[in-house]
Amino acid sequence: EPAPLIDPFARAIRYLRVSVTDRCDFRCVYCMAENMTFLPKADLLTLEELDRMCSTFVRLGVEKLRITGGEPLVRKGIMTFFRAMSRHLESGALQELTVTTNGSQLARYARELVECGVERINVSLDTLEPEKFSRITRWGRLAQVLEGIEAARAAGLQVKINAVALKGVNDGELFPIVEWCAREGHDLTFIEVMPMGDLGGEDRLDQYWSLRELRAELAGRYTLIDLPDRTGGPARYVRLAETGQRIGFITPMTHNFCESCNRVRLTCTGELFMCLGQEDVADLRGPLRASADDAALEQAIRAAIARKPKGHDFDYSRQKVAGQMSRHMSHTGG
Ligand code: GTP
Ligand code: 5AD
Ligand code: SF4
Repeated sequence: EPAPLIDPFARAIRYLRVSVTDRCDFRCVYCMAENMTFLPKADLLTLEELDRMCSTFVRLGVEKLRITGGEPLVRKGIMTFFRAMSRHLESGALQELTVTTNGSQLARYARELVECGVERINVSLDTLEPEKFSRITRWGRLAQVLEGIEAARAAGLQVKINAVALKGVNDGELFPIVEWCAREGHDLTFIEVMPMGDLGGEDRLDQYWSLRELRAELAGRYTLIDLPDRTGGPARYVRLAETGQRIGFITPMTHNFCESCNRVRLTCTGELFMCLGQEDVADLRGPLRASADDAALEQAIRAAIARKPKGHDFDYSRQKVAGQMSRHMSHTGG
């Protein structure tokens, strides 16, 4: 049994987020520029390399894998990779295999995901109004995503909706979204928008909607019961007494949850980001390709974890947005 991955702040790294592609069939305004230059194929880890990389992390104690993108389900052959990862579920090494998706390909893949042992998925959905949806995602069609979500439910997947809170965009839709999720039986999580991406001179401040405000609005209509449990993710949850539904809040801006961080992020080119809100990155593709033996890779992973910072520097409280990252969110899959 190799020693587990422990960072300098005594946090055990049990959760790996894997971005399997930088591509996406949408162009959400807070995530990508309209014209993105995508990576050449030779830079990408092949599906076999992704398998080797993730299997090494699992051997080093990672218990939860979340597949992200870009949009993970647009990567060619992606189900081969899911199937490969499902063997770690079967062996008991992995406790959860899951995916964060924009939902566009779910009608096609929901059943296969279930066959691979996926039990719950997160779907990004910020609005239920078709025109607004097209404005936020630039290229997306709401009906296609709703069909995908329906297919996921029909296949037996538990769905969590991720909604980025955007002032002037979906702030008028708080109750319709909450009520829709209650009716459909989906969990719901709101996310504070993080200042990332090349924003062409603007920043995210104008759209920033604090979840403290959102929560207060919610409390005006419902009784919120705080749920103590943290599911290993950054969200804090409440239950609405009137509907029984669970609502999560991810507040990187107003409440920093870095002290309990348990995760690192692998990109589709084999870079390891130790923190979403920092630029520091370790190359794992080099050591992976240098040798068929995993020893060098293992060592590179341990060296990277030893550099994990205490937390991010996102900050909206100053005049200028400190810590605005030029990197796009799609690079690390959130
Ligand atoms: P579960 O708790 O397993 O449902 O997953 P999750 O909420 O960690 O994953 P998801 O992919 O749904 O991420 C939702 C949002 O949380 C995304 O916008 C992520 O960028 C954000 N997020 C997840 N982990 C972190 C983190 O460590 N730091 C910050 N700042 N944001 C995070
Ligand atoms: N700030 C907050 N959340 C973001 N996401 C993408 N870009 C941002 C951003 N700048 C969300 C997506 C998806 C999750 C992986 O990250 O909506 O739900
Ligand atoms: Fe694609 Fe998700 Fe980014 Fe939107 S937020 S552009 S759906 S990766």
